[in-house]
Amino acid sequence: MSTAAIIPAAGLGLRLGGEAPKAFREVGGDSLLVHAVRGLLAASAIDLRCLVVAVPAGTEQDMHARLEPFVGSAELHCVAGGKERTDSVRNALEVIDAPGIDCVLVHDAARPFVPPDMIERVVFAIRAGASAVVPVLPVTDTIKRVDADGKVVDTPERSSLVAVQTPQGFEPGLLRKAHSGPADGATDDAMLCERLGVTVQTVLGSEDAFKITRPRDLLLAEALLNERQA
Ligand code: CTP
Ligand code: MG
Repeated sequence: MSTAAIIPAAGLGLRLGGEAPKAFREVGGDSLLVHAVRGLLAASAIDLRCLVVAVPAGTEQDMHARLEPFVGSAELHCVAGGKERTDSVRNALEVIDAPGIDCVLVHDAARPFVPPDMIERVVFAIRAGASAVVPVLPVTDTIKRVDADGKVVDTPERSSLVAVQTPQGFEPGLLRKAHSGPADGATDDAMLCERLGVTVQTVLGSEDAFKITRPRDLLLAEALLNERQA
């Protein structure tokens, strides 16, 4: 069986700032999006058959031409993203043809350095029977819930908390069902599945799979790339 992957890459990158949308910002001479695509292709055991990238509206053709050299024999589609991340994923999901696909990955363009073994853990968990899988890491900060006035409501026990990364993996029919209803502020795709009452399985994530969100994250990305190339 084969895998399809969706890369939402249509965000503005407001927290990062700068001229270009975040996915087009470069580290080591390549855009974050190109790094993310390369990372998925490097996980050879997943047999990536189809890649759908949600890009800023109007850049679809240009991005298709730019990404084509990196996708090998996988089928590439570039579609216009939407207002929210969930809208971008939903637009991408529409062009995935399910026959022969047993896992759909959803992976942020803003996480350019995910190691192949982590991607394989996600896909293998789906192939072992899970319907939805998320890679996670323990949190290191104490996390508190606060109210609208910034007053602390409570402190969940840290050992029960994890930080969630991407790629997240889904059985194709489940992901379609999850995206068929209202997104209502969902910040990841697993959350839509949780609302359906589906059990979401976790696998070990990776520190290298950090998300580039703020300017300092670009420094870490440069450092990581230098370390890998050393
Ligand atoms: N994304 C998307 N469509 C949107 C919003 C986000 O495809 N309407 C993508 C981003 O391009 C990114 C991923 O979802 O690859 C994770 O989102 P985030 O890190 O929040 O990126 P941005 O939304 O671009 O950044 P910001 O929230 O700082 O504006
Ligand atoms: Mg965002």
